Amino acid sequence: DGFPAARLFSQGYSYTYDDVIFLPHYIDFPTDAVSLSTKLSRRVALATPCVASPMDTVTESSMAAAMASLGAIGIIHSNNNVSHQASLIRLAKSHKIPFNHDLIFKSPSDSILSGEEFSSAPCIFVTESGTQNSKLLGTVEKSNWEGLDSKETRVSEYMTKSSVSIPASYSFEDVAGYLAKNELQYVPLVRDNGEEGEEIVNLVTSDDVERIQGFPKFGLPSLGADGEFLVGASIGTRESDKERLEHLVKAGVNVVVLDSSQGNSIYQIEMIKYAKKTYPELDLIGGNVVTAYQAQNLIQAGVDGLRVGMGSGSICTTQEVCAVGRGQAAAVYKVASIAAQSGVPVIADGGISNSGHIVKALTLGASTVMMGSFLAGSNEAPGTYVYQDGRRVKKYRGMGSLEAMTKGSDARYLGDKAKLKIAQGVVGAVADKGSVLKFIPYTMQAVKQGFQDLGASSLQSAHDLLRSGVLRLEVRTGAAQVEGGVHGLVSYEKKSF
Ligand code: XMP
Repeated sequence: DGFPAARLFSQGYSYTYDDVIFLPHYIDFPTDAVSLSTKLSRRVALATPCVASPMDTVTESSMAAAMASLGAIGIIHSNNNVSHQASLIRLAKSHKIPFNHDLIFKSPSDSILSGEEFSSAPCIFVTESGTQNSKLLGTVEKSNWEGLDSKETRVSEYMTKSSVSIPASYSFEDVAGYLAKNELQYVPLVRDNGEEGEEIVNLVTSDDVERIQGFPKFGLPSLGADGEFLVGASIGTRESDKERLEHLVKAGVNVVVLDSSQGNSIYQIEMIKYAKKTYPELDLIGGNVVTAYQAQNLIQAGVDGLRVGMGSGSICTTQEVCAVGRGQAAAVYKVASIAAQSGVPVIADGGISNSGHIVKALTLGASTVMMGSFLAGSNEAPGTYVYQDGRRVKKYRGMGSLEAMTKGSDARYLGDKAKLKIAQGVVGAVADKGSVLKFIPYTMQAVKQGFQDLGASSLQSAHDLLRSGVLRLEVRTGAAQVEGGVHGLVSYEKKSF
């Protein structure tokens, strides 16, 4: 009944996730017996098979810390200067609590001229030199400032003197206990940088505590040998990226992704050889690739992981602009089949818009899924919410959009030396999704149910069942796809948890 994957994917069609459907198999274990633990790359293990994409509207320190706290990982983007990228890595790694506020600092002689200087955080911090890494002297809350006669008054004259802080190494339970015991509304978290002094790295409010206590309890966090969160970062393949790589390694990056839209190039292969020789201990992920031929070249050059996908992302226009790419289901199956022979884990990158797509990607051979739009619009994504047609949205843009490329991401498309810039992506907005700390646990529970229906209690068992031809698939006709979605209702509420 149905087709084995090898047969289905050798008929000349570029199938994507929605084109194919698995036939259910046999269940002999409960949902909670399913383990999704996996490998991102040869030496980086994860409890949760999700990766936040290196895009400037998806992954900075808040997202990376939140993903690591869930047993997953975030790859910090490189559409910035290297010192900024390195500081985002340090910040994510120094967290024990997976959320972040925009912190604002003033020196005692500064003034606050406009209410807009207050971010969403409950106060502005006053430090000796007005910077993050200087001694905390006090705080100014918006309500204190609003009552002032003259806004030009120096903050030293009306700030609340307080140097109360707690170490950034405190666990969530420690911080919650501290706030409750001292009846505080918020407390700054401070990291001791030895001779360089102290640095205020985060702020936790009692609202944060209440919010996080309401989230589902979820598996093991992703921690490195140093006990800090696992954090990845991307680089390009330019000569200057060698220096970037050096800074990222110094900042403690745990895995590096070579970010190219077509990874099978002389530029990437040279960079792989250089990085493997210079940092043999560092896992390096190459890509993007969609064919066995591309994958073989990068595996031969020495990559520890492969990122798969071309033109399948929600903001991508590569297939339309350049006429190259592949349906994502076919790409994942073909690349994973080759990569498995060398023990190289595969990341299915792009095109994920529901838990069913994750089940399909992981069963077709991927070890993790990388997501952009699925995570964009969350509390942890960079950027602020705005209202558009009555809906709360956050910006989400392709790294090949003209807007992103003006900041340097054109190197990903090897277009940085070209005279005329051509966009391979768009700028858009996605709806407010709340916190990844809430929706990733629910999504993973749905993925486990999918695995249970397939009779696979782990990723390895799903891969084995697929390759041995025990798991069968079929192509869905257009009508079958319509039938597989909600249909025939006048209206309904789309809520999964
Ligand atoms: P999703 O579907 O998760 O896709 O939003 C995210 C992935 O899309 C890739 N990406 C792009 N591809 N033009 C492209 O052709 C772009 O501007 C662009 N920006 C991101 C990238 O692989 C990401 O992980």
